[in-house]
Parts: sequence; structure tokens; C-alpha cells
Amino acid sequence: MSFLAQRLSRIKPSPTIAVTQKARELKATGRDVIGLGAGEPDFDTPDNIKAAAAEAIRRGDTKYTNVDGTPELKKAIVAKFRRENGLDYKPEEITVASGGKQVIYNAMMATVDAGDEVIIPAPFWVSYPDIVLLAEGTPVAVPCPQNNQFKLRAEDLEAAITPKTKWLILNSPGNPTGAAYSHDEMKALTDVLVRHPNVWVLTDDMYEHLVYDDFRFVTPVEVEPRLKERTLTMNGVSKAYCMTGWRIGYAGGPVDLIKAIAKVQSQSTSNPSSVSQAAAVEALNGPQDFIAEHNKVFKERRDLVVDMLNKAPGLSCHRPEGAFYVYPSCAGTIGKRTPQGRVIETDDDFVTYLLEAENVAAVQGSAFGLSPFFRISYATSTDLLREACNRIQRACAALQ
Ligand SMILES: Cc1ncc(COP(=O)(O)O)c(C=O)c1O
Repeated sequence: MSFLAQRLSRIKPSPTIAVTQKARELKATGRDVIGLGAGEPDFDTPDNIKAAAAEAIRRGDTKYTNVDGTPELKKAIVAKFRRENGLDYKPEEITVASGGKQVIYNAMMATVDAGDEVIIPAPFWVSYPDIVLLAEGTPVAVPCPQNNQFKLRAEDLEAAITPKTKWLILNSPGNPTGAAYSHDEMKALTDVLVRHPNVWVLTDDMYEHLVYDDFRFVTPVEVEPRLKERTLTMNGVSKAYCMTGWRIGYAGGPVDLIKAIAKVQSQSTSNPSSVSQAAAVEALNGPQDFIAEHNKVFKERRDLVVDMLNKAPGLSCHRPEGAFYVYPSCAGTIGKRTPQGRVIETDDDFVTYLLEAENVAAVQGSAFGLSPFFRISYATSTDLLREACNRIQRACAALQ
């Protein structure tokens, strides 16, 4: 009998972290690898945020805080929801954790029993199904193909709901495709949800600020206030504020759920870092203009990558509304042969070929639940992206 718990056999290590690590290892051996796997901005944390953290240390904000967040940070989050989303949450309806990932983990642990179903539109962020599995729930992936712009349609949602459905997880703009729901697209989904009062909504708004071409972000409760009593509106500072390492995520939701989430956290990690919380207060309350500056660069990179990938034989790439990912189809390479004589049968084969032939590390679509695609993060320098796309074009042209 294995020493390891059975629950561990249900899940796999994060494939995106695995690709990033592999790229790092190969680089350390001297190979000229371009890593396009990482889901984090290449921009540094803004100086005012760093200064707020340094000041917090000097002030002595170095002790335990309330388990689910300091009053100052909750106040800043309440103000953020009001200002940016038109949502009225009270401080007791807010929770803060060590990253958005922990909010989701705590929420699933606090609410999901064996047999409960959680609807997850596919392709999905790799952690959703595995967190549901750890909580002994059943992830129900609903395919959202490219010809639906990788978005969940009302009829697909309706068809996926069963008496066992506990949650729907929505993520807009989404990882791995960058697809984001317009007001009307979101309304079509919330109309379905209004008719199913037993289904709760976890909306992962982590990429809220990363939208391009004047796209207007919406979150479910803003579109349908009647869902507020059964929605967890999750967000965080990791992506928009370039604070992935600081580990602060947060959510607004009904008091009973927020209390349950805090209970899980109180018996696991306790409060998120006091210093990071002080930094997050400055992130939310301080100047926001760098976000638009970053977005200008991200949009240019998105357009560069989409245009170059669409010139690669066998690839076809959509132009997503947001986040910093594209999710090109590699269907046109399937069945082709590499110069080494290997046949590309899956998107796993395709990304392995890219890494071996051209030292480009991307993540296979199978990790995200929709094949044959692969994910590229364009949160890296424009020069590196151009070089990476040149290499991908070359690799595709070499297939026969
Ligand atoms: C869709 C999505 N949600 C949540 C997270 C996790 O964010 P955090 O770093 O705050 O835990 C990520 C990180 O990659 C993500 O892509």
C-alpha cells in the first residue's frame, strides 16, 4: 500500500508550472530556450507598491493579522468593487487569501461534497478541475470550441446543469484563451442561472484589467444583481499589478460563504502575509495609470503574435479580447512528419517538437481540456516574442 493518500492520485502537478520549470532547466544547461509558458507579466511591481511594503515593514506590520484580511485591505477592496464594478459589498462580505488560487481552493473545500458537480467551461485554467477533485467533487467540463470563440453558450450551460450541480466556474478574460464575455454574452448566461437557484457562481475575474480594443469588462453580479446572494466574485492583484509573487487574492460574497472560507483558512495557512496585504492596499488605492501603459504593450504583442502565428503553416490563431494568452489551433500539423521522422499525433507531440527542434516552450492544449491547441503567454519581451514566432514558423514549415 502506498504511503501517499488516495486523494493525491486524483490530481496532477500543474502542467504550466512543469513547462516553465523544464524551460528553466534547459536554459541552465546552456540551451537558448524561449519560455512562453509562464502566466505572469514580465513588468516589475510598480515602485509605489514596493515602497508601501517597505513602509509596512518599518512600521512593524509584521505580525499576524485577521485570518481573512486586515480592515484596511478589506476597505480598499470594498472601494474597488464599488468604483470599478458598481458592486456593493460590506467588509464582512470580503475575504483575502494568499493568492486567487487559495480563494478558489478554500471555497471548494468549504462547500463541495463527494458527488457534487462543478461546471467548468473548457478550455479551462488547469487548477479548477484538480481543486474540485481534491475537494472530492466531480468536475464537469463543457467544451467551448473555437467556433464559439471559446465561450460558454447559454444552451450548453443549460444542458450541463443537473440536480447535482453546485457551482459554475466562470473566468473572463480567460486563461488559456484570453476570451472575454461581452455584456450580452454574460447576460445570456446569467438568464440561465436565474432559472437555476441551486447553482452557485464562482467568477474568476483575475484578468479584469487586461482587456484591449476598448472591450468593456463585466462581472456576473453587475449584469444580474439577483445572483449576488449566490456568487463569489474573485479577483486579485497578481496579474494587473504585476504582483504574482506577493500572493494576494480576494473575493466578495455572501457572509455565510465568506465565514466558511475563513474557517478553512484559519486551520490551514491563517492570514496572508501582512506585508503583502499592505502592498495590496497601495495597489488598489494608488495610481492606476500604469495599467493602461502595460495594456498598450500587451495589445501590440498580442497583435504581433496573432499575425505571425497565422503565417505559420498548419496553425490558426484567434485574436482574443484580453488576458495575455493566445490559444492557437495546431490541427493543421496533426498527421505531419517532423524532419526527424516522427509523426505529430497530438498537441503534446507538437509542443515537444517545438521545444526539441526550435527551443520554444509552450503548453499543450490537452492540459487545458481542449485539443489540438497550445497556449502561448505573450507576457514576455516583444523581441523574444518575435524570435519565438519566427522559430515556430520555421518549425511548422519544416513539417511534411
Ligand atoms: C485564471 C486564473 N485564476 C487564478 C490564478 C491564480 O492567481 P494567484 O496567483 O493570485 O493565485 C491564475 C494564475 O495563473 C489564473 O490564470
